[in-house]
Amino acid sequence: MEEIRRRDPLTQSEGVVAGYAQTAQRWPAQPLQRRPLTPSELGVVTPRLPLLRGDLAGQGAKRAIGQLINVRVRVVDEGGVPVHGALVEVWHCNAAGKYIHPNDTNDAPEDPNFYGAARLVTGDSGLAELRTVKPGAYPVPDTGGWWRPPHIHFSVWGRVWLSRLVTQMFFPGEPLNEHDAILNAVRDPQARRRCIAELAPTSRGPRDALVYDYQIVVRGRAASAAMP
Ligand SMILES: [Fe+2]
Repeated sequence: MEEIRRRDPLTQSEGVVAGYAQTAQRWPAQPLQRRPLTPSELGVVTPRLPLLRGDLAGQGAKRAIGQLINVRVRVVDEGGVPVHGALVEVWHCNAAGKYIHPNDTNDAPEDPNFYGAARLVTGDSGLAELRTVKPGAYPVPDTGGWWRPPHIHFSVWGRVWLSRLVTQMFFPGEPLNEHDAILNAVRDPQARRRCIAELAPTSRGPRDALVYDYQIVVRGRAASAAMP
């Protein structure tokens, strides 16, 4: 079988990250091989998955605790052309750094008014909008002091099941960004910068929320780094 070329070592993640034990299990130990694609891998994604609301923050008395934010995600291809109809899945922890997940052992409070995931579809301009609260930082268990900076997980599906990019969005100005093993597994500083959202001018946003712009590039030399 034909061996597949490694991904760009500068702009894509290193894979196995020192000090982050789980990456060794998540990364192929053998060279990748090309094989024939199956019909189910080439099946169309969009009609199969139900959409979930793009509002994780709730309203009024039922509002999640934390700083309200709107994230405007734009999905583009290598030429900067908007990708419309892409399925964008989003998940993140609450403002205290706690995920809605049984495996989260962090001793931080849950928030009954926070909903931790959404599934959106990009419009004609490649845009999907999410209203939520800013996620908190959290300690990674058994790492002797590694804290994840606030971040939002994204999965973008193309037209077929095989075309999927999983990545993370970071916030500008966070001191923990400098030491994060996952963000810094991307060696090219420009590629790292592309993982960090931009704060939009507050004068033009809604009164109650900060707005962040974030671009996901699904392929090409400037493709967003794949991150677990
Ligand atoms: Fe996370």
